[in-house]
Amino acid sequence: MSALQRVVVPLGERSYDVVVGHGAIAELAGLLPGTARKAAVVTQATVPCSIDLPLPTARIEIGVGESHKTLTTIELVARSFARIGLTRHDVVIAVGGGMVTDIAGFAAATWHRGMPVINVATTLLGMVDGAIGGKTAVNLPEGKNLVGSFWQPSGVICDLDALATLPSRERRSGDGEMAKYHFLTGEDLEALDLTARVARCVSIKAALVAADEREGDQRALLNYGHTLAHALEIVTDHGLTHGEAVGIGLVFAAELARQLDRIDDERVKAHRVVVGDTYGLPTSVPTDLGADDLMALMARDKKALDGLTFVLDGPRGIEIVRDVSTSDVRAALARM
Ligand SMILES: NC(=O)c1ccc[n+]([C@@H]2O[C@H](COP(=O)([O-])OP(=O)(O)OC[C@H]3O[C@@H](n4cnc5c(N)ncnc54)[C@H](O)[C@@H]3O)[C@@H](O)[C@H]2O)c1
Repeated sequence: MSALQRVVVPLGERSYDVVVGHGAIAELAGLLPGTARKAAVVTQATVPCSIDLPLPTARIEIGVGESHKTLTTIELVARSFARIGLTRHDVVIAVGGGMVTDIAGFAAATWHRGMPVINVATTLLGMVDGAIGGKTAVNLPEGKNLVGSFWQPSGVICDLDALATLPSRERRSGDGEMAKYHFLTGEDLEALDLTARVARCVSIKAALVAADEREGDQRALLNYGHTLAHALEIVTDHGLTHGEAVGIGLVFAAELARQLDRIDDERVKAHRVVVGDTYGLPTSVPTDLGADDLMALMARDKKALDGLTFVLDGPRGIEIVRDVSTSDVRAALARM
């Protein structure tokens, strides 16, 4: 079994460690802020969670699923903080996937105007993405993640033992993000064991977050494959998992880059092989989905500032490309 790996997210005095590996939870006590006298563990009934801390600990359960990622849940969590008597010198521990870390992070960001939070990621998606980088948010009926804040955790634990109980559908969500990292680095991540691969994904995200904490162009590269993916998730009412949608979105991004003469056929093929063969994700748009619906949804994507904006591969690597014409997008979709 490989040793634990520690990745630093370098943000000056707000820098923090991400500890990755089997049994990483043993490092949690070492991440606690010295000022903490109490801890509030925010989690879900469906998350296997046994946290043993050397200080009085209260457990707060939130609902499961995106319909609970709301301001109402933030209020419920904050009222629990009040009952526990949590101060801004104490600590919140988020134990769960991206949903839990988004809720607990936002609650911590706003409780007494900001208190420490440590993320214990229990899904693959949370480990390689959601738990790192300090984006926290809740949904409104008008859209996903519309209310939130940037609030960095004080530390992150990615204990791979937690993945043993993760349903395969949730595992695939993380696989889609790993396939994305594969292209962002150009490295053969599959050659690494799981600890090293997750740690490498964390370090890629850490570097992008450090370079561009509040999401200008650099951090937006993490959206590679996500423009079509978001449209597919909406149009199928989440019939496709996030990871499956990202897989298709990555292949589409390659087809669009080819359409714009930014990459050659070999590079498109490489996308199909990595997404389909290496990660076992779908590579084509389900035949019953109409191009018009997908086009309309992609145009509405909140990352689109002027016309259609995509993150695309090209001679200078992966970058933001603006003002892509609808006829090129349609031509690329037709090859999907
Ligand atoms: N803040 C960010 O940077 C960021 C990035 C990506 C995604 N997100 C957010 O993350 C959320 C998706 O996260 P997710 O894919 O981790 O889903 P999730 O947190 O909703 O978890 C999926 C399901 O798995 C269960 N679960 C979690 N860990 C488990 C375990 N070890 N064993 C068994 N069941 C377990 C959960 O209870 C839930 O039912 C979305 O709300 C998304 O917006 C945030």
